[in-house]
Amino acid sequence: MPTEPKSGDLAIGIDFGGSGIKCAVVDIQTGMFVGDRIRTLTPQPSVPREVIAVMGDQVRRLIEALGMGEMPAMPVGVGIPAATRNGATLTAANIDSGWLGFQAEREMGLAMNRLVVVGNDADVAGLAEVRFGAGRYQSGVIIVLTIGTGIGSALFVDGKLVPNTEIGHLEMKGHDAEERVAESARSRLGLNWREWASGFDDYLHLLERLFWPDLFVLGGGASKRFDNFEQYLTVKTPVVPATLRNNAGIVGGALIAHERQQREAVRRAVEPAL
Ligand code: BGC
Repeated sequence: MPTEPKSGDLAIGIDFGGSGIKCAVVDIQTGMFVGDRIRTLTPQPSVPREVIAVMGDQVRRLIEALGMGEMPAMPVGVGIPAATRNGATLTAANIDSGWLGFQAEREMGLAMNRLVVVGNDADVAGLAEVRFGAGRYQSGVIIVLTIGTGIGSALFVDGKLVPNTEIGHLEMKGHDAEERVAESARSRLGLNWREWASGFDDYLHLLERLFWPDLFVLGGGASKRFDNFEQYLTVKTPVVPATLRNNAGIVGGALIAHERQQREAVRRAVEPAL
């Protein structure tokens, strides 16, 4: 019988994209949402100050809806279409250039008055797929690709993430692969599914030769249409569609937030008192 989630198992995940900002409270034991998901249009231009204001408002509404008081200890994890390191966003894909070299964790943490952790959007979504979704029972090397406006990538070795792989930008036939094989390229280049899939299949062959993965998981917009192109893929590695679909970014955000919170609690416990 399902039991009530413990407040220590709750974290907020935020999925920040070029067009929408989605968030929910997640029970990190099950990967299920607690309460409703909120979606807000991304401010245009998506400058950090405006985006953080939207996120702050969403977090306040989510916590209010739980009706459990202020819950200052509930952490927030945010997936961002950017390479991230030490809490800063280092690139900016389809978002304002104000995110370049921006101390995102610090600024978001100050604005929301709680622990905020940021990660690359594909890494975060991949984590959710590996923990709760299509990669759940697979050991070894898993490559999760998010196929949307761009190609996001997440590489896992026995469940452990190698962050910021950015292999959507590998060179393929003299081009940045993403320009040819993202979901957006299909409409931009006017390709039918077979034509698009043939380029995507070349891309998977390239990854297969370089990484020898045990599994490919395909997420993002195109994963909902997996049936339209599955038959054109010829790689030997098993290829499966993501199962958490639109929610992977939110669930993964909650996971990174909760993991950091746990790590910091352990660090505080073992650090000798100053
Ligand atoms: C970016 C990645 C991002 C992906 C999906 C790519 O263009 O370089 O950082 O994960 O798009 O949003």
